Amino acid sequence: MNRDLFERAQKVIPGGVNSPVRAFNAVGGTPYFVSRAEGPYVWDSEGTRYLDLVQSYGAIIAGHAHPAVIDAVTSAAADGTSYGAPTEAEVALAEAITARVPSVEMVRLVSSGTEATMSAIRLARGFTGRAKIVKFEGCYHGHSDQLLVAGGSGVATLGLPGSAGVTANQVADTVVAPYNVVPELDEQTACVIVEPVAANMGLVPPVEGFMEGLRAECDRTGALLVFDEVITGFRLGNGGAQQRLGVNPDLTCLGKVIGGGLPVGAFGGRAEVMEQLAPLGPVYQAGTLSGNPLATAAGLAALSLLTDDTFAKIESRVARFGESLEGILQGAGIQARVPIFGTLAGLHLGENLPEDYDDAKATDESAYAALFHALLDRGVAIAPGAYEVMFCGLAHTDEVLDRVLDLATEAALACRR
Ligand SMILES: Cc1ncc(COP(=O)(O)O)c(C=O)c1O
Repeated sequence: MNRDLFERAQKVIPGGVNSPVRAFNAVGGTPYFVSRAEGPYVWDSEGTRYLDLVQSYGAIIAGHAHPAVIDAVTSAAADGTSYGAPTEAEVALAEAITARVPSVEMVRLVSSGTEATMSAIRLARGFTGRAKIVKFEGCYHGHSDQLLVAGGSGVATLGLPGSAGVTANQVADTVVAPYNVVPELDEQTACVIVEPVAANMGLVPPVEGFMEGLRAECDRTGALLVFDEVITGFRLGNGGAQQRLGVNPDLTCLGKVIGGGLPVGAFGGRAEVMEQLAPLGPVYQAGTLSGNPLATAAGLAALSLLTDDTFAKIESRVARFGESLEGILQGAGIQARVPIFGTLAGLHLGENLPEDYDDAKATDESAYAALFHALLDRGVAIAPGAYEVMFCGLAHTDEVLDRVLDLATEAALACRR
């Protein structure tokens, strides 16, 4: 039972969860403990099935337990789970990434998105010899000290300005700017890190000129432009947000989809910059499990399923779903906007589409909690936090999404009552 598991969990795991975004603190109640998943569905420990729009916060795009991914992992596992020596699969995954992402000439694999952004920042500092970094309010780049200010995602859900345990010194070189406004940089800035389409304060696409402006400002001052594509990479198309937006960063951080649901991250970019990494250069970065054979096998299998056609199909389904969902919610008298960008869908319970973190925070968190539970009671799982997005993939067919819309209609009416 979920309740029993949660009680056990709380005794041995802080808050009963291994990542705060999984907690139900913001919406109330007991988290469902997943026992298995397949395609668009997850089943909890009580056997209840949910239509899942969480999809491991975007790590899954092929649908849960896709046979190609499972076969790849199973067969890799039979050959051993970690070696401490390079493998062909790592080379193949690096080749797959560099072949698809326009600005990535070389890439290094790590085990999480946090490691990717943390290492990219160190590399940018090492390359430029400068200390300062610029990040944007409401963007989340993982939980490394220097980036844990004005973060979105779980930090926003829990209403935290940052994190205890991060000293003033550790963030002294982090400058925070409002999203969608090009900041004026100076020549002490090592890099600007940005989610090119922000997806950790709900969904906030860049306004026209924002990315181009960042590129120009970085070029003017010699700072590196770092795109955090941990969510958008291989989700907004094979070339990520950078290809869609037509702006090339110097460094790109990846994660989630490239691991097919196993722990992988990556950072890559211009060869001249990447060659500063040890063992070639003086910027140290390492990992016992980096390029892990199971994770690289899963990632390669997932990427092999993603063609331009696949993305086009997911996009058109999500566009129709988003428009219908917005209509259903508004029709039930709930102030709601469902922003869409490519395959990504947001859920903002407010009047206007947000353009920055202040706008995003205008979402009605208590209305979100009510809708969350009304959906969950009917078998639809969205994230238990108002600052996340909805993830659809190959398994979210029109029929599946129609079912979600039917259940959302019931949920919205229940919320109105
Ligand atoms: C944009 C972005 N960057 C970085 C991260 C951190 O990745 P991880 O949770 O794998 O450490 C996340 C996680 O949600 C993210 O959304």
